Amino acid sequence: MELVRVKLRNGKTVIIRRFWPKDKEKLIEMYASLSNEAVQWGMPPYTREKLERWFANLENYISLVAFYDNKIVGHAQIYKNPHPRRKGTGGLIIYIHQDFHNVGLGTSMLKQLLKLAREEKMHRLTLWVVADNKRAIRVYEKMGFKIEGIMKDAYFGAEGNYHDELVMGLILNERGSHRNM
Ligand SMILES: CC(C)(COP(=O)(O)OP(=O)(O)OC[C@H]1O[C@@H](n2cnc3c(N)ncnc32)[C@H](O)[C@@H]1OP(=O)(O)O)[C@@H](O)C(=O)NCCC(=O)NCCS
Repeated sequence: MELVRVKLRNGKTVIIRRFWPKDKEKLIEMYASLSNEAVQWGMPPYTREKLERWFANLENYISLVAFYDNKIVGHAQIYKNPHPRRKGTGGLIIYIHQDFHNVGLGTSMLKQLLKLAREEKMHRLTLWVVADNKRAIRVYEKMGFKIEGIMKDAYFGAEGNYHDELVMGLILNERGSHRNM
């Protein structure tokens, strides 16, 4: 994938491209700078140790970053499940820095990420999202993800209450050629 320039609704232009190993420290910095609100429905903490586990297996990921002013302001990635019985399937996560929420960056990053997944002939993506995370659900639905199930009380919020979590899925290549590969 080439580098993609996107003008956001806040007038700022970001660059979206694949994550390179030399971006590690900048990605660690982005996760360290996320506000409590940005990780409200996530699985914090996003420590160096956690990210190092991604970096150690980069061949299993399709990973994109968005840059503004030489800083990473968004990260979206697919984990490609390496087990043969999970061939062509993967999980998706996305985190946008709070200064760039709701200005179209998440939508732009996911469009690019799904394009790459389709180019790689991936078949299916799965994600879990807390049912209260309305903005994320809206973006996933815009991308074609469908709600496939509800996990009652699966997420224990920082405020001390249980929340439902949705399982969402997207079939990328209904008649994907990978099946015969
Ligand atoms: C969820 C997230 C990835 C979305 O990315 P984003 O760049 O903020 O979203 P975008 O600006 O591309 O799109 C937001 C959409 O949601 C809509 N939206 C915003 N708030 C909403 C709400 N409370 N209810 C419903 N829709 C809402 C917007 O109108 C927009 O839709 P539109 O394009 O049809 O107008 C981003 O906000 C984020 O990183 N949040 C924190 C981390 C997180 O929750 N990650 C997902 C964990 S599963």
